[in-house]
Amino acid sequence: MEYTRLGGSGLRVSRIVLGCMSFGDPGRGTHSWSLGKDEARPLVRAAIEAGITTFDTANSYSLGDSEVLTGALLGEFAKRDEVIIATKVYGRMGEGPKESGLSRAAIHAQADASLRRLGTDHIDLYQIHRYDPEVPVEETMEALHDLVRAGKVRYLGASSMWTWQFALAQHAADLNGWTRFVSMQNQYNLLMREEEREMLPYCLDQGVGVLPWSPLARGRLAREPETATRRSASDAFGSRLYRQAVESDREVIDVVGAVAAERGVSRAQVALAWLLHREPVTAPIVGVTGDHHLSEAVAAVDLDLTDDEVARLAAPYVPRLPEGF
Ligand SMILES: NC(=O)c1ccc[n+]([C@@H]2O[C@H](COP(=O)([O-])OP(=O)(O)OC[C@H]3O[C@@H](n4cnc5c(N)ncnc54)[C@H](OP(=O)(O)O)[C@@H]3O)[C@@H](O)[C@H]2O)c1
Repeated sequence: MEYTRLGGSGLRVSRIVLGCMSFGDPGRGTHSWSLGKDEARPLVRAAIEAGITTFDTANSYSLGDSEVLTGALLGEFAKRDEVIIATKVYGRMGEGPKESGLSRAAIHAQADASLRRLGTDHIDLYQIHRYDPEVPVEETMEALHDLVRAGKVRYLGASSMWTWQFALAQHAADLNGWTRFVSMQNQYNLLMREEEREMLPYCLDQGVGVLPWSPLARGRLAREPETATRRSASDAFGSRLYRQAVESDREVIDVVGAVAAERGVSRAQVALAWLLHREPVTAPIVGVTGDHHLSEAVAAVDLDLTDDEVARLAAPYVPRLPEGF
């Protein structure tokens, strides 16, 4: 495994981040495809053994159960200071006034709830899952800064939003001497490259690390088209994505397959290797639901694509509307 700094911060993360959205009680929340504790255990163990140090979850995944499993399984295989735990706030946990969004009241209540579920006294990277237009950005940024000052959170990050919203939040922090975001977690993969227009150049300029979510387009880049899996049959959010440019997607997927066959590696390796070499990507957050998924993600770190392969992979892409937030 390789390690790198998260943007301009001093935090060192593994170049593959394990996404823990795949873990949690399938009966809770909206991820009926997620793996329970016993199925998740060998995957978390394999991740630690492969040198992955960085794990991403959210309060809303499986209505909190992803955090419970992540905290418990990391506790089985690693010491707390050997791992970086990233989680998120914003999503709806209930109907109460402190159970969604980014008000001061919600941020403090949800951070405490995440700490309890994770079984830790601090969160390494606390991310806002989305922008909340219903709350003054100064209120959100000051509440996040207070968590850092209280020692409950080490670094702040953000996730999918418009670049102008992210810039507003950073500006509010700068004006008031509050903690800035060190990372942006956004959707970026060979089938969704709209972030190349504004967000990625902004992150590069500002020294913000980039942690792409759904780097395999929820599996579409890792297998033959139309392959049915437990997740693909029931991934409600995922089924709304990647429907705008079906022909272009198909061509990209075919090139991924062709490059993989020529190099004698898996499709997942090719798609992740492409991402790993894109500036300013820090580390893709991979989702693993099967045995070979993790080893193929780890192997992607060592796959160097030629300039010609990179160009072939990118060529069939056509512009589309940003989606997923
Ligand atoms: N911030 C946000 O808004 C946001 C949104 C989404 C995700 N995330 C984060 O990003 C993480 C990853 O998201 P994701 O699970 O959608 O990412 P992904 O890596 O694009 O998709 C993972 C899926 O791809 C398939 N797959 C993975 N490796 C494979 C391989 N080697 N061969 C064949 N198929 C393979 C599996 O699908 P099957 O199960 O169908 O086989 C797996 O469930 C999440 O866990 C979460 O932490 C964040």
